[in-house]
Amino acid sequence: MKMIIDTDPGIDDALAIALAHALPEIELLGLTTVFGNTFVHQSSRNARYILDLLGADLPVAEGAALPWGATTYQPSANVHGTEGLGDLLDIPQIGQNAHESAAAFLVRNAAAHPGALVVCAIGPLTNIADAIKLDPHFATNVKQLVIMGGAYDIPGNITPEAEANIFHDIAAANAVFAAGFDLVMVGLNATHQTLLTADDFAQMAQASAVGQFIDEISHYYLRFYESVGKHDGCAMHDSTAVLACVYPERFTFIETGLFVDEKGATIADPSRPVCKVAMDVEGGWAVDLAKATIFDFGR
Ligand code: BDR
Ligand code: CA
Repeated sequence: MKMIIDTDPGIDDALAIALAHALPEIELLGLTTVFGNTFVHQSSRNARYILDLLGADLPVAEGAALPWGATTYQPSANVHGTEGLGDLLDIPQIGQNAHESAAAFLVRNAAAHPGALVVCAIGPLTNIADAIKLDPHFATNVKQLVIMGGAYDIPGNITPEAEANIFHDIAAANAVFAAGFDLVMVGLNATHQTLLTADDFAQMAQASAVGQFIDEISHYYLRFYESVGKHDGCAMHDSTAVLACVYPERFTFIETGLFVDEKGATIADPSRPVCKVAMDVEGGWAVDLAKATIFDFGR
């Protein structure tokens, strides 16, 4: 399947990009970047660094620097580090961004491949909402939009109510949920079932240079989880969304319209277009597949 990943790399984003690049079912057309875990210029720099490490010559189109209607925002440096990739600092500037915005890149590719492009959005939804504004046909040109975001009937991870990607741009998320995409929401209900431990990362490090990189950046992420009392590993949030694009049969979904309230809670709204919400995933399978894919980079 043809895919664009909209991303704010981000430690778990890095693993998701590596996974998508490696899975044979996915033909990655490029990355679009957004503020979120770090500032958007850093997201783009990190995206290009990760692609270079993977040996993937793909465009990176830079997108929104701020949430809709906002003049400031707070990056998640406590979770992802000051430059977004954990303890890794002074990340080299490799190559250049594409000469079009994220929204323009998304719209152009969706129109070029009507009904064939899957967009996997693993950051705040601002670029996706901008693409809808740019082209009213965007939502129907796209085959499917799979987002990592939201927490359905369970507590959030950035506030008691909200999951981080939704919280960072509530207005954009509402525009996306109202737009009529074939939409799959992979939120904390599923991603908290896909936990990677220090031992898992150490195994990746043994296998390949890509595994070493994933291990190195993940130390910071694991320390954050430990600091908030979660000792059973860190969630591979964004990779779980990539897996939902390719292996929906490994997930259990409910169908409902969605609305985001002013606190960032994702709640059922029967007046909204129906989307699929992942409630469960075969977590052990997901972790094993992600690890096996990273091991394969060494072969
Ligand atoms: C989401 O927020 C970010 O911190 C992660 O990269 C992921 O996309 C999890 O809530
Ligand atoms: Ca992310």
